[in-house]
Amino acid sequence: MTDLASNPVRVEQLIQLHGSPVNVLTSNPMRATICDLKTVAAEANLPLQIHLARKANKCVEFVRAGIPNSIGFDVASESELRQTLGEFEGSLDEPFEDSILCTAAIKPDGLIRLCVTENVTLVIDNADELATLREVLACIEQPAPVARIAFRLQPCRQKFPALATRFGTPASELVRLAKTVLDDQRIEVVGVHFHVQRSHEQFAPQFTRSLIEDALETVDRLRETGHSIAWLDMGGGFPINYLRDESQWRRFLALAQPDPASNGEFAIDREMTWSQRPLIDVDPAWQPWNAVHWFREVLTPTLVSEITRRELTLKCEPGRALLDGCGMTIAEVQFVKNGSDDELLVGLMMNSSQCRTTRDDFLVDPIVIGKSNSPDPAANDNNDDETTGFFVGGYCTESEVLMQRRFRFPHGISRGDLVLIPNTAAYQMHFAESQAHQMPLAANVFF
Ligand SMILES: Cc1ncc(COP(=O)(O)O)c(C=O)c1O
Repeated sequence: MTDLASNPVRVEQLIQLHGSPVNVLTSNPMRATICDLKTVAAEANLPLQIHLARKANKCVEFVRAGIPNSIGFDVASESELRQTLGEFEGSLDEPFEDSILCTAAIKPDGLIRLCVTENVTLVIDNADELATLREVLACIEQPAPVARIAFRLQPCRQKFPALATRFGTPASELVRLAKTVLDDQRIEVVGVHFHVQRSHEQFAPQFTRSLIEDALETVDRLRETGHSIAWLDMGGGFPINYLRDESQWRRFLALAQPDPASNGEFAIDREMTWSQRPLIDVDPAWQPWNAVHWFREVLTPTLVSEITRRELTLKCEPGRALLDGCGMTIAEVQFVKNGSDDELLVGLMMNSSQCRTTRDDFLVDPIVIGKSNSPDPAANDNNDDETTGFFVGGYCTESEVLMQRRFRFPHGISRGDLVLIPNTAAYQMHFAESQAHQMPLAANVFF
């Protein structure tokens, strides 16, 4: 990313060739992370299977890069599944058992049917989903294939009071469900799964160890009912570092979030966001570990022996961490003007759906490549004075602010400048992408 940022000619070529915005991607960092995570597990003597959570980025190139590196995939829709099956079909590498897990939050009949017929493991979230699976199985012609399923565990509320989640089913209810499946020749329970979205504090390795220990108890209880559970899936949520150092993150928290000590009032006069919006729901942008170090901290010898003495394989499904460093989004400045309140507005040739998740903001600062860096002297008519302002985009609403934060441009910003938003491959570039106003989707270019 820094190489590209320091090559304005190349950046300009990308925009000329592919339009604005353009997503620039590479799967090399993903390969390196896979290798490092595998090394951590191998050093601990722990059987590990890594699955890329495809929902983090729609590009099939990541599947293509993952298959020869012996990873599996977590799919969340029929399209993701069909595409992944197609890639395995066209590959010389044999998939391992349960290499595709379907964790879709809503599973239409067609998706369930496809999973069953293609021997893809369904992660069953609740009793109704199991009932739908049974109905689908009843409609499949004889000889009906066996549906391989894992149960999605809802972490115990008493043990994890701060972890409210809409997903999964409590252990005791799963045990009841598992008993109802025992006599059903068409369903085989092969795994236990959990995935939680962590707050900043919940990234502590101890927290994940406790979640795994809780899930191991559930494995024991399900085995007692007679099911031969082969694996435990700890989901994704591996941390990544978007920022260079902790002080940036602490400073953001102090400025952007209401101070509990002063009754929810903001500690500081906040000029930093659009319409003084509070940014409460943000991804933890700084972590004391990267994903690999964190995984090593999670896997204490005691925890590893608890997993291996049960002869379980540990599965994980990172999305964000595998895509760390795998992509950035580049857009061209189309105009710079003042709004009616005299705020400086920088119009980027993109819309807000092209760098957005369901969070309040993305805490990475864009990099501006000035036209003045361009070798073309005719372009060199910029105002280079320091200024501050907001990025606005192509949707026709007053709220179409691309990032909620005010940015300071130490060398000014002008029409024709190019703006690079780093590290957008995980979720940012695709998760909320829409074609409102019939605007085309951004091109995805792989290096
Ligand atoms: C079931 C499941 N597994 C894995 C992931 C990937 O999470 P992350 O990208 O935080 O690693 C998600 C993300 O929403 C998920 O829902």
